Amino acid sequence: ASYDMGGHDTFMHKEISEQPDAVDRVLRGRIDDRFSTVHLGGLNLDPREARTIRRIKILGCGTSYHAGLIGAGLIESMARIPADAEPASEFRYRNPVVDPDTLYIAVSQSGETYDVLAAVQELKRKGARVLGVVNVVGSAIAREADGGMYVHAGPEVCVVSTKCFTNTVTAFALLALHLGRVRDLSVTDGKRIIEGLRKLPAQIEEILKTEEQIKEIAAEYAGAQSMMFIGRVRGYPVALEASLKLKEISYIHAEAYPASELKHGPLALIEPALPTVAIVPDDDLLEKNRAALEEIKARSGRILAVAHQEQAKADHTIVVPKNEDELDPILMGIPLQLLAYHTALAMGRDIDKPRNLAKSVTVE
Ligand code: G6P
Repeated sequence: ASYDMGGHDTFMHKEISEQPDAVDRVLRGRIDDRFSTVHLGGLNLDPREARTIRRIKILGCGTSYHAGLIGAGLIESMARIPADAEPASEFRYRNPVVDPDTLYIAVSQSGETYDVLAAVQELKRKGARVLGVVNVVGSAIAREADGGMYVHAGPEVCVVSTKCFTNTVTAFALLALHLGRVRDLSVTDGKRIIEGLRKLPAQIEEILKTEEQIKEIAAEYAGAQSMMFIGRVRGYPVALEASLKLKEISYIHAEAYPASELKHGPLALIEPALPTVAIVPDDDLLEKNRAALEEIKARSGRILAVAHQEQAKADHTIVVPKNEDELDPILMGIPLQLLAYHTALAMGRDIDKPRNLAKSVTVE
């Protein structure tokens, strides 16, 4: 199929801009206000079965793996089911213990990534129940799974994923709310999360308005040899994804660390030539994150914070709207898509088709 850029210079820019509508689509028709939950008809999981799940294992590659990491956090916090995410390719080759009380979830934009498909097939051969969280309707992984949910991001053309990532994470919030309400999440908390979900499209619009500010910051960082991304707990997978995005399209080396691990090694790298991007939400870890900024400043490191309020220790702060703590990671990565974009643009990169990468990798 051929799609046009609708007045944008690149598909990546178009897809970043489409996020308010895309998120609206993943929510549409699924919220049930009467019971403060969401309906996910395609899961094929009745409440009694949902209550017997003891563990959730999420599998994906690249950006979809990062979406799975945030998804695992959402599930643990809302449904109180132990959950984690792992790259599908690694999972498949370590002869994993396949446990009947574990629900497996395969995440894929294309639904065709070979490493993910092969992991699903291996799991099914061993009798596991596997759900898909997939964008492309009718794709191989969607067909192979026992059920699941479509993320309805619409067609994504740029090799690197933006709107599908945001929609996948939002889909995980719906799944976490659904599982939570079958288990121990209260009506009040269910309502609180639903109100938060409904705010997302307008809050993403707000974030997109910071593009000019981000463009100016990107002009400073273009040409950096390397960049550090840090966050804690919910913010850490946001940092991982932001660093991947920057690497993929600007070719600047970047790494992501939990802010708490800085002192166990990477602090040795901090100096003026290595800028740090920090995820600093207004939550129970705010003071801890601020302490990390101080550590970096004390070593003359430059800091860009993505936060809910200006950060005194940062050279720049991109202020994003506050949502419920659980849902903040959905929003905090969006300005960093724009940072990667404008950094790569300033460096003259081929943004929609970065070197050495393919949109979907259908071979091993
Ligand atoms: C490729 C792409 C990545 C993508 C990954 C997984 O490596 O370059 O951007 O995240 O595949 O793709 P999927 O379609 O399974 O989400």
